[in-house]
Amino acid sequence: MSLVLDSAAQDLLFREARTANTFTDEPVTDEQVQAIYDLVKFGPTAFNQSPLRVVLVRSAEGRERLVQHMAEGNRPKTSTAPLVAILAADNEFHEELPALLPHFPQAKDMFFAERPVRESAAGLNAALQAAYFIIGVRAAGLAAGPMTGYDAAGIQKEFLDDDHAPLMVVNIGKPGEDAWFPRSPRLSFDEVVTTV
Ligand SMILES: Cc1cc2nc3c(=O)[nH]c(=O)nc-3n(C[C@H](O)[C@H](O)[C@H](O)COP(=O)(O)O)c2cc1C
Repeated sequence: MSLVLDSAAQDLLFREARTANTFTDEPVTDEQVQAIYDLVKFGPTAFNQSPLRVVLVRSAEGRERLVQHMAEGNRPKTSTAPLVAILAADNEFHEELPALLPHFPQAKDMFFAERPVRESAAGLNAALQAAYFIIGVRAAGLAAGPMTGYDAAGIQKEFLDDDHAPLMVVNIGKPGEDAWFPRSPRLSFDEVVTTV
């Protein structure tokens, strides 16, 4: 009653949405990924810094290079998902900041001249965008399988550069057979929320 989003959309995005471990072979198209990005790009980040960068691993050769850096238990699903995305944080996001924050272009030098500050900001804000991305995948009627079980240095060397840090790898597609375990419990409102 308190939520304005209709119940079917709530189910699609949260209640019925699950982290998939198996997928059908139905392809995920570039059009779907573009529609997902064009929706979730509006999710907020500090100073609108938008540090998320995405590498779509489509080729068989790219997939092979990625799978070797995944933890053993993550390899089968990363090999078979219709599409896999590497989500990364751009630690040099400040270069885009004047364009992204036209009413306050000085923010680039005022707040983000130092790399450690940028790394901390990029880590937080790209993680937020990764969460928006996962919800966007669900909004497209697809399931996401985010993973951090991998050799981060290996993925960074193989697919990124010194300025881009891997955040997570996400398998994307329609859920296959036995795609998940029973739903694990969540903390209750009272366990999480305090009011002062
Ligand atoms: C950032 C992140 C990293 C994760 N890493 C892995 C992983 O390496 N391997 C794996 O099998 N599941 C991984 N998961 C999946 C979680 O265990 C799963 O999303 C969580 O238990 C909720 O499952 P549910 O959506 O089906 O309720 C990860 C999820 C997130 C969000």
